[in-house]
Parts: sequence; structure tokens; C-alpha cells
Amino acid sequence: MFEQIKLDYGFDALEPYIDTETMSTHYGKHHATYTSNLNSLAEKAGKQDESIEDILSEVVELKDIELRTGLRNNAGGFYNHNLYFKQITPGGSKTPSGVLQTRINDTFGSFDNMKEKLTALALGQFGSGWAWLSKTPDGTLFTSKTDNQDNPISLHTGHTPIMCIDVWEHAYYLKYKNLRAEHIKALWNVINWDVVGALYEGSSL
Ligand SMILES: [Fe+2]
Repeated sequence: MFEQIKLDYGFDALEPYIDTETMSTHYGKHHATYTSNLNSLAEKAGKQDESIEDILSEVVELKDIELRTGLRNNAGGFYNHNLYFKQITPGGSKTPSGVLQTRINDTFGSFDNMKEKLTALALGQFGSGWAWLSKTPDGTLFTSKTDNQDNPISLHTGHTPIMCIDVWEHAYYLKYKNLRAEHIKALWNVINWDVVGALYEGSSL
């Protein structure tokens, strides 16, 4: 049985950057629904005992189109939001440190450059989707964006996501309305870089 990542903080903990109602709806309704749908669809596909990473990688092989699409969307929704809610844990470092900081500087020149690049990808995503900071197999960093609930695992990039920006309107519309850029600007204030650094160094979600 797949379970949503547990939040060890209240829905109001990220105010004023992410408002209480958005957190409550996003976690309690959207993420909860992806999780519940994933559990029923994984069982239907006989994949209930597989890891979420294996399901995401292998879902493309399912012959039943409806099941394939449903599982792809809901497995992605489950995984993506587990990462999303884990990385915005209150507290922790507000900037990268250690190995991750070095890698960011090596890859993008500076932390600010990385933020600009990821912000541009998130802003440039047409419609619903995500922007990603991922670790490649050789340890370098890679930025990308995906449609809907796809992610670097379901797209077989070989990369491991370590940070993400949700640009579905449900992530920001209650507070920011159509102003996606304002939401992204605010989100940078609540990323816990200790969590992202630990994911870079191999800790699991
Ligand atoms: Fe979302």
C-alpha cells in the first residue's frame, strides 16, 4: 500500500509563501486522490508490491491503454508530490551547502543562475506540469520540465529528481491566481536545502 509522505508540520507552517488553504487542499485532496488512485490501479495491474520507481519506469509497457494512462498519471502524481512536500519542510538551510553547493556552482556557475534557469523552465511550461532539478548517473546536475504528472523517471532519462516546482494551477491559484511567476518566486523561500542535499547524496524519499 502506497502512503503519502507524512508532514511533520502544519498546513500553516509555510505562510505567507504558501497559504494554509492551498497546503490543505493540495496535500489533503489532490495528493490524497493521486495516492488512492495509485493504490487501486497498481493492484489492477498486479504491481502493488513493486516500488514506485519501478512502476514509473515500467508503466509504458502496459498493454491496456486506459490502465497505462491512469497508472502513469497517478503514480507520477504520488511520487512528484511526495518529493514536493518533502522539500518544503520548514526549517533547514535556505541555501545549498556541501557537495550539492559545489555541484550547483560547477554546473550553473552560481546558485542564483540555477534558480534563474529552473524558474525559466517552470514559467515556460505550457499548461500543467513540473520543473525539475535532477542528479544524473555521473553526479552532475540537470534541469528539465515535464507535462502533466510525468517526471524524469517515467520519461526514462536515467536521472534522479532531487527538487521540483509544481506548476499545476492547484499549487498556487487560490493565493496567486494567474500569477505563476509570483508563486515560483515565493517557493524559493521555502525550499529546505538540507533535504535536497540529502537526496542528492542518496537518501530516499
Ligand atoms: Fe500539485
